[in-house]
Amino acid sequence: MADTTLMDKLVSLCKRRGFVFQSSEIYGGLGSVWDYGPLGVELKKNVKDRWWRAMVHARDDIEGIDAAILMHARVWEASGHVAGFTDPLVDCRQCKNRFRADDPRIKGTPGQPDAQCPVCGSKGTLTEPRLFNLMFKTFMGPVEEQAAVVYLRPETAQGIYVNYLNVLQSSRQKIPFGIAQIGKAFRNEITPGNFIFRTREFEQMEMQFFVKPGTDAEWFERWREWRMQWHHELGLDPTRLRWHQHGPDELAHYARAAFDVQYEFPFGWQEIEGIHNRGDFDLGRHQEYSGKKLDYFEQATNERFIPYIVETSAGADRVTLTLLVDAYREEEVDGETRVVLGFHPAVAPIKAGVFPLVKKDGMPEVATSLYRDLKRRFPSFYDDSGAIGRRYRRMDEAGTPFGITVDGETTSGRTVTVRHRDSMQQERVSLDQVADYIAERV
Ligand code: GAP
Repeated sequence: MADTTLMDKLVSLCKRRGFVFQSSEIYGGLGSVWDYGPLGVELKKNVKDRWWRAMVHARDDIEGIDAAILMHARVWEASGHVAGFTDPLVDCRQCKNRFRADDPRIKGTPGQPDAQCPVCGSKGTLTEPRLFNLMFKTFMGPVEEQAAVVYLRPETAQGIYVNYLNVLQSSRQKIPFGIAQIGKAFRNEITPGNFIFRTREFEQMEMQFFVKPGTDAEWFERWREWRMQWHHELGLDPTRLRWHQHGPDELAHYARAAFDVQYEFPFGWQEIEGIHNRGDFDLGRHQEYSGKKLDYFEQATNERFIPYIVETSAGADRVTLTLLVDAYREEEVDGETRVVLGFHPAVAPIKAGVFPLVKKDGMPEVATSLYRDLKRRFPSFYDDSGAIGRRYRRMDEAGTPFGITVDGETTSGRTVTVRHRDSMQQERVSLDQVADYIAERV
């Protein structure tokens, strides 16, 4: 299957089955902004829940927070985003399109007569590069004046740094410890695309781990290992995951070292999570800009220092896309193409589909009652319309790992058929035990 075709098929499946819709679609859509439908919201929630369990609930040394999206404008001066979170852009005076200055489609040097616009083909119409800030700006209060400018946060990390002291004091943690947060971030990306891979509104799952200077390299390595393990445990194909180390020209302004977890998408190897050694950049800058002391006193050694930070920063939407791409497959079955999303049962949006074989002989009643029982324990779906084969296929496309059919033997022998999505094999399980049977496997 050609790679572009795979993405097209995935986008169409996501709409058909209710994973992801284009934002404001009835108005023609909004560029690179997407909405999650009934199945998509469950899938992404499973990603976020697993992250939260691994990072916050399963550990004693990480606390969670939920900071506001709007923050004091000085935060973004301290963080370096006002000055440095920019892309160089060029405009075509002829067709009015705008490009990143390093767009590989541009021939020649922008601003020079030889430069050629990649859209209209005009020569010498591209402007000199100008810096464009990626932060969305808005105004707080009724008057649009400079004093009231606020930004939609371009990363969640800053909400953690400005709350570092609050959390330290209220939770009685000691260094080393971390703060985790899941939340929306916004970037006015110039070259967004590839479905939900790069969007203008997205969700991050970020954790900042505060450590004593000198121990940062060791913690950095530990976090690299733990984070890669987390991606493996999502059920992703390990051969399509790898590390990419940032060279000196790639490092962000705050980073002393950085590694990306990359996944092999149909459009190439791309970052899904970044692990950064941020040194004392963040707390040092916030101390300078706020005038508030942010150093740490270590009683055991009588030392004061600004903690170093090891950051793990993953995109919830990117991981969701990774799960979709990794799970998508097509198979030939009895001369027909079967489309399957082979999710790990733990992340599948719906765990079980319940089907009465026919709409008579007491089957709908038994199936409805079973469905009600299951739904109390995990997301389940009831479907009594169409041939049973078609109902299985719909659940295959939704990635539902188990299909339970109530048939003639259910009413006589109190057993149901459990059909496994991947192997399509069927087995009989006692009606009383089917809920436990599935719960154990999801
Ligand atoms: N606090 C560090 C930080 O924000 P980043 O590499 O810019 O680092 C971290 O972003 C993660 O956030 C990325 O690995 C990606 O998963 C996600 N991300 C960043 N920009 C995104 C966008 N425009 N759309 C979707 N996800 C994005």
